[in-house]
Amino acid sequence: MIPLATKAGPAPSPFSPEQQKRFDVAFGKAVAKYPAERRKAALLAALHLVQDELGWLPEPAMTYVGQLLDVPPVRVREVATFYTMYRLRPVGRHHIGVCNSVSCWAMGSEKILQLCSEKLGIRAGETTRDGIFSLEEVACLAACGNAPAALLNNFTYLENVTPESLDKLFEDLRRQPERKQ
Ligand code: FES
Repeated sequence: MIPLATKAGPAPSPFSPEQQKRFDVAFGKAVAKYPAERRKAALLAALHLVQDELGWLPEPAMTYVGQLLDVPPVRVREVATFYTMYRLRPVGRHHIGVCNSVSCWAMGSEKILQLCSEKLGIRAGETTRDGIFSLEEVACLAACGNAPAALLNNFTYLENVTPESLDKLFEDLRRQPERKQ
């Protein structure tokens, strides 16, 4: 006899208590920007918030967000895999995305990427052994006026990047305590 399908329970939160607190506040603000009947439109923002907490988008986290916004998991996955700014595998504590699009390229982004590589001992797409840094080449960050540009984690723009500003950045980040989990 074929067993009756059981109803799936609610998707568990992927967050620690501290992460949950931060996420709930930011998620509330993101959803409040849309009319109640359009809350699904907050999906992109919600995925960014998850990524900011976890560093990437694990499958259970996508399901969790989908549940909050009443979006089917498969649709959340479609969105997360369509946009390259969402990460589908774990990265280091600090993710640095160096823009390789035309304005940044013209302003020396290749050199910036190479310097990052040398300073961190990894190539684009890799994470340092200590798990502190990940490096990636990314497309235009919409900061072309201040090229070359890079994005630190999810929300911190680095503009007019120079070898000196990179040195300071890595030094500061290495000293920065880990965010409360
Ligand atoms: S080309 Fe680099 S931010 Fe636009």
